[in-house]
Amino acid sequence: MSNPVDKMEIPWVTRLVKSLQLTRQSPESRYFQLATCNNQGAPSNRTLVFRAMDKRRGELSVVSDLRTDKIADLRHNCKGAICWYFSDTREQYRFDVKSTIMSLQDHGDTLRAYWNNMSEPGKKQFLWGVPKTPRSGNDPLKVNHQPNDPPPHFCVITFAVVSGDYLCLKGNPQHRELYQHQQGQWHVTSVIP
Ligand SMILES: Cc1cc2nc3c(=O)[nH]c(=O)nc-3n(C[C@H](O)[C@H](O)[C@H](O)COP(=O)(O)O)c2cc1C
Repeated sequence: MSNPVDKMEIPWVTRLVKSLQLTRQSPESRYFQLATCNNQGAPSNRTLVFRAMDKRRGELSVVSDLRTDKIADLRHNCKGAICWYFSDTREQYRFDVKSTIMSLQDHGDTLRAYWNNMSEPGKKQFLWGVPKTPRSGNDPLKVNHQPNDPPPHFCVITFAVVSGDYLCLKGNPQHRELYQHQQGQWHVTSVIP
């Protein structure tokens, strides 16, 4: 049985806010996995740090590097799949998403705000050189840019959630529910896990 939800309320957002709140002491609760497909249809998967949520629009954001494979994948096919497990609360969220890539050219102010929110070690990761290119020798990696401003390859990826699948392992029976967005309204369906 599917239940329509108040237009203003996005049910998975309410749950996710609670999960983030309950696990705020564990940095790893902010890591999720994103799967994409390349232009040959081959899937790949990686861990990203959750940075922000637009609760009204139902969007999640991360920071990334325009020079990485995931960007090429998402430019070819903006659809992705997120899997996010909260080990403290034993909850799994799976989201089908559509991504938008924001670069400095078009979203300078937004990107500068994300950059300024990052730690110094976090910023430095963007300044070591081109990802996936060979290192020369065993020399330590040097930072080749002043970290005051974001480098041109810094980007933000926003994931608009299209549908969701929530599973909570706590309790017997376990609890699973599906979230679908139809005709401008979110529907929740409780299902057998
Ligand atoms: C805990 C953890 C957090 C990470 N967070 C990010 C992140 O927020 N953004 C990012 O681009 N890469 C992040 N990475 C690195 C990615 O997992 C991946 O190795 C890198 O982005 C290259 O991925 P790609 O070649 O599939 O594009 C993180 C890795 C780990 C292990």
